[in-house]
Amino acid sequence: MRTLIRDGTVVNATGRAVADVLVDGETIAAVTAPGLFTEAEKVIDASGKYVIPGGIDAHTHMEMPFGGTSSSDTFATGTTAAAWGGTTTIIDFAVQAKGTSLLTTLDKWHEKADGRCAVDYGFHMIISEVDDNSLKEMRPCIDAGVNSFKMFMAYPGVFYSTDGEILRAMQRAAETGSMIMMHAENGIAIDQLVAQALAAGRTDPVHHGLTRPPELEGEATARAIALAKVTGAPLYIVHLSARHALAAVAEARNTGQNVFAETCPQYLYLSIEDMAKPGFEGAKYVASPPLRSKDHQADLWRGLRTNDLSVVSTDHCPFCFKDQKELGRDDFSKIPNGMPGVEHRMDLLHQGVVAGEISLERWVEISSTTPARMFGLHGRKGAVTAGADADIVVYDPAAKQTISALTHHMNVDYSAYEGMEITGKVDTVLSRGTVVIADGAFHGREGHGKFLKRDLSSYLI
Ligand code: URP
Ligand code: ZN
Ligand code: ZN
Ligand code: ZN
Repeated sequence: MRTLIRDGTVVNATGRAVADVLVDGETIAAVTAPGLFTEAEKVIDASGKYVIPGGIDAHTHMEMPFGGTSSSDTFATGTTAAAWGGTTTIIDFAVQAKGTSLLTTLDKWHEKADGRCAVDYGFHMIISEVDDNSLKEMRPCIDAGVNSFKMFMAYPGVFYSTDGEILRAMQRAAETGSMIMMHAENGIAIDQLVAQALAAGRTDPVHHGLTRPPELEGEATARAIALAKVTGAPLYIVHLSARHALAAVAEARNTGQNVFAETCPQYLYLSIEDMAKPGFEGAKYVASPPLRSKDHQADLWRGLRTNDLSVVSTDHCPFCFKDQKELGRDDFSKIPNGMPGVEHRMDLLHQGVVAGEISLERWVEISSTTPARMFGLHGRKGAVTAGADADIVVYDPAAKQTISALTHHMNVDYSAYEGMEITGKVDTVLSRGTVVIADGAFHGREGHGKFLKRDLSSYLI
């Protein structure tokens, strides 16, 4: 089966040109000057539209257990919503529960995801118990295509690792060529601030933000960078929200250290003012690190331009407002942490192009090309080029849409961007050559998505 995507503006991280894209089976057979090929079973007219590599969301949490509940998107609903939004690969986090081995954890996550995803998927591994066995099991995880390991400096008693444990895991990462991803917030200090706030009767959602000040993200980020330097391990800071943390990352990168960071759309567009909305409305915006004051946003956009921020992922971790966020009505520390977003990352970042914050090419780079390179999918994903998987989005830059929970496809009862007007819209999505979104309808199926056994990171190329 051959599909010809005709006359679109093909945008890669390296440039743009009006071109035709010929898809043969699951892969891109050729990208050529317009009109060179005429023979194809299916023709998609992309004139006036962008033809970009499918988005790669390197940070999602489907069906993730947290605080006595589970994130509300399953692998089926979450990857379907991803497809609607032009994301054709997710990398989700398998979560080691205490007392469970990494390999058992990996099996569990395969059980949840295999045969259910609408688009391709991979896993990172969250290490919550650093001991000889976990460290040993990093190798078989890598062999199984899971070669990035997230650790937490936050959440003492749950996911938290001490500096000594982090050091040991980083040494092992350096030895194995794998990547440590860090949730960098000083959880020990934060827990004191949280206890003090609750004791003083400050229980509403905004105190989630006020008890996690940006200085404690900056401090933890700098500490993680120091530990990475001592061990020689590359480091990837996840969900960076504060200029304090960005400064630490920029300084490390300026001295040549292999430190990378992602931010998320919520930190670019939302702020602590959302968390301070009256009633219990603010609970919709509770995630960690928290939304910051608005003045951080310009710094994050600058970081995206200068490449001090290399990737934008969503940290998609939805909890319903009605029956899940509710758990923290009388105590903000019991509000499940996380926000929905997997469906809207490409659109939200496109607003950065419209506003002149980033170029069209940079949009593609931070949402697809760099995550592919960073997480061992280089060559297969992240570019519209001959030989790559035919994960392709035809994007209409002139279309208008309004984000709303009434029309989104994520399995969650609210949108963090309710009413936001967006310029641009996904028109057609191909996942490995199969049209999964077209004409405003989903044409894919659960189980089309394949597990991606990832290579070691190509962060140096
Ligand atoms: O609040 C968040 N970010 N929830 C998801 C878990 C994590 O720390 O990434
Ligand atoms: Zn985190
Ligand atoms: Zn996360
Ligand atoms: Zn619900």
